[in-house]
Amino acid sequence: MATRQAHHADASSSRVLGQFRGKRVLITGTTGFLGKVVLEKLMRAVPDIGGIYLLIRGNKRHPDARSRFLDEIATSSVFDRLRESDPEGFDAFLDERIHCITGEVTEPAFGLDSVAFGKLAAELDAVINSAASVNFREELDKALTINTLCLNNIAELARRNPQLAVLQVSTCYVNGMNSGQVTESVIKPAGESIPRSSRGYYEIEELVRLLEDKIADVRSRYSGKVLEKKLVDLGIREANRYGWSDTYTFTKWLGEQLLMKALDGRSLTIVRPSIIESALEEPAAGWIEGVKVADAIILAYAREKVTLFPGKRSGVIDVIPVDLVANSIILALAEALAEPGKQRIYQCCSGGSNPITLGEFIDHLMAESKANYAAYDHLFYRQPTKPFVAVNRALFDLVISGVRLPLSITDRVLKLLGNGSDLKWLRNLDTTQSLAAIFGFYTAPDYIFRNDELLALASRSGEVDKGLFPVDARAIDWEVYLRKIHLAGLNRYALKARKVYRLKSLRQRKQAA
Ligand SMILES: NC(=O)c1ccc[n+]([C@@H]2O[C@H](COP(=O)([O-])OP(=O)(O)OC[C@H]3O[C@@H](n4cnc5c(N)ncnc54)[C@H](OP(=O)(O)O)[C@@H]3O)[C@@H](O)[C@H]2O)c1
Repeated sequence: MATRQAHHADASSSRVLGQFRGKRVLITGTTGFLGKVVLEKLMRAVPDIGGIYLLIRGNKRHPDARSRFLDEIATSSVFDRLRESDPEGFDAFLDERIHCITGEVTEPAFGLDSVAFGKLAAELDAVINSAASVNFREELDKALTINTLCLNNIAELARRNPQLAVLQVSTCYVNGMNSGQVTESVIKPAGESIPRSSRGYYEIEELVRLLEDKIADVRSRYSGKVLEKKLVDLGIREANRYGWSDTYTFTKWLGEQLLMKALDGRSLTIVRPSIIESALEEPAAGWIEGVKVADAIILAYAREKVTLFPGKRSGVIDVIPVDLVANSIILALAEALAEPGKQRIYQCCSGGSNPITLGEFIDHLMAESKANYAAYDHLFYRQPTKPFVAVNRALFDLVISGVRLPLSITDRVLKLLGNGSDLKWLRNLDTTQSLAAIFGFYTAPDYIFRNDELLALASRSGEVDKGLFPVDARAIDWEVYLRKIHLAGLNRYALKARKVYRLKSLRQRKQAA
């Protein structure tokens, strides 16, 4: 491939490329956002990689992994750059070096027979586990299965092949409700205590058994939609009890502990990204898939469904472009391949080195939407007329519960906020309340994620690899990124054209025919 040749000039002096030469890497979660960017970067920038194995579960349309890969992954715009620069090279890579495995990461041996599982383990040098349920309010049983217990199956793969380097994609938010500076180390729960081993990790077996008992109890008492809701509530309740805001982050923390114990003395690298957003540069500036965490709020604002949100304007909101995350994963894995047998934790974030506050974040987005809303036609249907106001939780709850208060009081609170006496936005109360319930914790941060270890790793890797696999969030100019890259990326990649436009053009095409 052309880009491969371009990188060849550097290959001899790149330690990362040297480490990956001939290596075979299994990746889970490539039907998702981050997994795709990791896969694309490995294909484009690591020319001598031995092979990439993708564990993909079948679905109704595509019972086998290869057909799901060809339909849902290979067609993604994430590969536009590769496909355009070298179409034959792209096809050849898919044919010769992408190996699709139909399997379920949550099942013992991925649902493969023991021989096939053993053969797979023996063929691999490394595994990148990116599959997860990122639904903050997932039913507890589902979250526990995919974010925690399935790591037993990853650990089993490593037991079958003791040389295997395991990289677990976690999240900075395993920090839960701890405040202050968060370093790249094992996180102590902020709530009820959990026993800790002298080896550093927490002993979670007893707690997992307790959670399973509670799940079984709820299951025995409810069914259907009510059961689902009860399992969601149970997850949030248990998460809160031990010091997390939601089921997702709680079960991801449990997953870290499980792996640290199961792979004690073996190669394990935990990479914790913060909130992953559109690409800074690669494969294309602004590339993103779907509407992510912060974008749900941006979208609700653009569509004028939300103008008020609980948040701390002075809090540092930690956003990291997806390409920097993919590079961190590759850099950290190269280190694990070079120096096996160690456990490492890296955070991939911006707060510690290039902070942006929630207030600045909102102001950039509002300035852009005011000045250029028409350029983002999938995002804004017209110029938003109301400002987006972040207020503290108590005031937010007071205003929101205002529907049940005499209107005069609500009116007074609104005046305090400078919103006059216009109550029209209360119509969108439901959207506001549900977004606030899901994301409210993330918009009032009182913690700073540090990435000193990741930056030290980048320095150790040398100038060539720093250039090939940049991870440093100090490269982000927030005004340019949020206004010109992220909003444009959301508009181009994450959002479809408005239905009325599509209908109109269909009609025009019919008329023209
Ligand atoms: N997005 C963020 O802002 C963010 C921030 C910090 C950390 N992370 C971490 O980054 C990783 C990737 O996140 P993402 O944003 O790429 O997520 P995503 O787009 O939602 O993709 C999730 C992936 O996990 C797979 N998956 C989910 N449930 C599964 C199950 N029960 N069995 C098998 N596979 C399952 C999905 O496969 P199917 O298509 O088969 O469902 C999909 O490939 C996760 O580990 C997440 O915790 C994400």
